[in-house]
Amino acid sequence: TWTMANFARTKIEEIKKIVGDKKVLCALSGGVDSSVAAVLVHQAIGDNLTCIFVDHGLLRKDEGDQVMEVYGKQFHMKIKRVNAQQRFLSKLAGISDPETKRKIIGTEFIRVFEEESKKLYEEEGGIDFLLQGTIYPDVVESGTGEAAVIKSHHNVGGLPEDMKMELLEPLRLLFKDEVRKVGEEIGIASELVWRQPFPGPGLAIRCLGEITEEKLAIIRESDAILREEVRLNGLEREIWQYFTVLPNIRSVGVMGDFRTYDYTVGIRAVTSVDGMTSDWARIPYDVLEKISNRIVNEVKGVNRIVYDVTSKPPSTIEWE
Ligand code: XMP
Repeated sequence: TWTMANFARTKIEEIKKIVGDKKVLCALSGGVDSSVAAVLVHQAIGDNLTCIFVDHGLLRKDEGDQVMEVYGKQFHMKIKRVNAQQRFLSKLAGISDPETKRKIIGTEFIRVFEEESKKLYEEEGGIDFLLQGTIYPDVVESGTGEAAVIKSHHNVGGLPEDMKMELLEPLRLLFKDEVRKVGEEIGIASELVWRQPFPGPGLAIRCLGEITEEKLAIIRESDAILREEVRLNGLEREIWQYFTVLPNIRSVGVMGDFRTYDYTVGIRAVTSVDGMTSDWARIPYDVLEKISNRIVNEVKGVNRIVYDVTSKPPSTIEWE
């Protein structure tokens, strides 16, 4: 921890020197890497940093508001939230293939980010640096994360020639654990820096088949219940990643005197070190029972809950 405190202090001084009174732009996702990078740079240069937060409508319950609350209100950072939910949903309409979904989301994300950065570029009278939350594993394996997507795109030259920004990557040499420690050192709450991984394409890859607002709502609500119960039962640090999926199956059930024909929700919870391999988490039966009861009672349109008991390999952690 001492070294990470030292790292933060040294980096902040270094950023001040490199950036001076020039302007920096950042794509903030609310994930650990981009958040730590943004807060670090904000502590160095304040309002000369502007963040663009693209809400693609595939975030978890209340996540977009939380990003604005924490980084906008509490940290006083300059953030522009772009409400692009409808735009993403209409591009995704009718699409079921997992890789096509990913591509559409990646491409649309870049388009929105480009449009917004062009606007900001004009408003600010120029922006000199593009801040990225690239971390060491991204550098070596050119990861699948958001940073890697923007970066490869930036390098290919999607932005206009006269809008060249220099890359600023203050976390480039750090491993994930170190990034989390830096985050804590610079005042980000531990539940945020230690939060479970969340994929860039968000809930889209947990919604099998066609994505609709109705299905997303079921995933959001059931996922919120699962997360709450995991937290209340003190299991957060034991389980590496946990979420609900909607397998696009309906089955028959009974409620009171009525037959129902509603969705099945799957629970995925895994233990892992790095996401490369994983085992299914042995959540106690009484906790699973509580989660199951709550989801069928509280989430409209759901009448059956299943628990995924496969390891990776042969399964993947996400269902798509
Ligand atoms: P899988 O499903 O491949 O996931 O076992 C391993 C880890 O990677 C995350 N993941 C993604 N992250 N974009 C991301 O930023 C993606 O397209 C993506 N796909 C999977 C997944 O959540 C898990 O932590």
